[in-house]
Amino acid sequence: MLKNWWHNTIGYQIYPKSFQDTNGDGIGDLKGVTAHLDDLVDLGINVIWLCPVNKSPMKDHGYDISDYEEIDPMFGNKGDLIELIREADRRGIRILMDLVVNHTSSEHPWFQRALEDPDGKYGKYYIIREGTDKGAPNNWRSIFGGSAWERIGDTNRYYLHLFTKWQPDLNWENPALRQEIYEMVNRWLDLGVRGFRVDAISHLKKDFSAPDLPVDGADGLADGFAFFTNAEGIGVFLNELKENTFQRHDAMTIGEVDEGLPPETLEKYIGENGYFSTIFDFCHSIFHVNSAKWKDQPVAMMDEIKKLLFEKQAMVNGRGLLCNYLENHDLSRTVERFIPENEIDFYSSSLVAGINFFLPGIVFLYQGQAIGMRDFRKERLDEFRDPTTFVLYEEQIRNGMTAEESFDQINRESREHSRTPMQWNSAPNAGFSTVEPWFAVNPNYREINYETQKKDPNSLYAFYKKMIALRKSGDFQELFIYGSFDPLYEDEPGVIAYRRSYDSRSVAVINNAKPDEAALTLPGTVKSTLLSNYDTIVINSGIIHLKRYQTVVLELL
Ligand code: NOJ
Ligand code: CA
Repeated sequence: MLKNWWHNTIGYQIYPKSFQDTNGDGIGDLKGVTAHLDDLVDLGINVIWLCPVNKSPMKDHGYDISDYEEIDPMFGNKGDLIELIREADRRGIRILMDLVVNHTSSEHPWFQRALEDPDGKYGKYYIIREGTDKGAPNNWRSIFGGSAWERIGDTNRYYLHLFTKWQPDLNWENPALRQEIYEMVNRWLDLGVRGFRVDAISHLKKDFSAPDLPVDGADGLADGFAFFTNAEGIGVFLNELKENTFQRHDAMTIGEVDEGLPPETLEKYIGENGYFSTIFDFCHSIFHVNSAKWKDQPVAMMDEIKKLLFEKQAMVNGRGLLCNYLENHDLSRTVERFIPENEIDFYSSSLVAGINFFLPGIVFLYQGQAIGMRDFRKERLDEFRDPTTFVLYEEQIRNGMTAEESFDQINRESREHSRTPMQWNSAPNAGFSTVEPWFAVNPNYREINYETQKKDPNSLYAFYKKMIALRKSGDFQELFIYGSFDPLYEDEPGVIAYRRSYDSRSVAVINNAKPDEAALTLPGTVKSTLLSNYDTIVINSGIIHLKRYQTVVLELL
């Protein structure tokens, strides 16, 4: 594998709205990110991905951009971004922005002009079709529920929106649109942005070859995913995008490529000449210990996750690097998803981190993850803030759930749980803001906060620092990035373990991902202990005795 600067990434995702408010309006801003750069240096990170900060009506919290050239005043201005880039650069941190080009906001001037004149220049920037005698041009369901088509006024024309109706899809078949996007991307790169997380990118190409699909829900619609995810021909767009922008700037790009990437195309996406530097892998993101399927079976769930993680690694097998993450702004918090409620503590929280952290690939953390922020369950639906939550609620009711069932499910799995304000300290509003924040702070902030954990050498934060320091240490950095991957104890229930080897070094990462102890025959002679979430590691006659949720990293002879 050709070596690249971004291979050494210890990344940190920031949801700016909830990171730090500096001007007392209850909303996080760019100056708030700059204010915490030294804290991120302390943790050991070197790349930041900022969720969207462009101008937006915030129907999807910034994933609906109405002006690609401007920063939303809610977050500050371009000067603040330049300042952030400069200050980050001084500390060896690179800034990635979020590139949202599958769709714009319905308030984007391009779309407004398209509505006025669907046959004109800007009408061709979007996907506008005649309706049929049944209504919408086809029966695709939008990813956020309801028809993927919205009628334009009282005409017989409809526009496509794979996400909410406030996010019309751009027409990538139009070269003029593509050119306009490339120029915009290059302007941000010229400004000093070092790359992008590229939103919803697997949906750029739509395959309209099929007529209506068989209806599969009470809404009378059909799941059209296979027709608008990594559709045949998408590579032409992705390659052109890369060649005209990223490649020219040696940018780092992380494609948000939903599941469904055929293994044989992997190299095209993340190989040496791939469309992206890396992609986020979704394989673990659908699991939840409290879902109907996994309730009371947490160990079986871990085994299923192990199977998928290992299959993914076998598939990649040195052909590129995945971007390994546990949390983001679209998922509830890690421990809530992977650990039964009564087992959540320092050990299980650090164990989950250990599973993911040393896999081949690069690492990305989400704000609050390193201090173990938890979900804040709501009493009422109207305490949520995301329009898509309400769309989902209505959809679930339409599909036969009771109001209570739907609310329970949302309360358990909502992506909004990760969006509560960052818990910096035990001051009012967790030090996030001097006024009431836009979204309620989790009341547990007096116990779970950055300041307290930073002082405590036994905190989860301290453990994350140790993991990061190990990954970055001169002796092991290349091993964790480029080393081979071999599963260990694959059939041992609840144990997720692997060996990483590079040059003459070899390391075993052993995670006992269950509430019971485990005794395992070691795969070799231990040279040294590199990391453990318990003070002691018991090894007798070649057998390692692991405590509940113990994670260890051992160097082998
Ligand atoms: C993925 C983003 O992560 C999510 O937050 C957003 O709603 C959709 N893409 C649509 O842009
Ligand atoms: Ca603010």
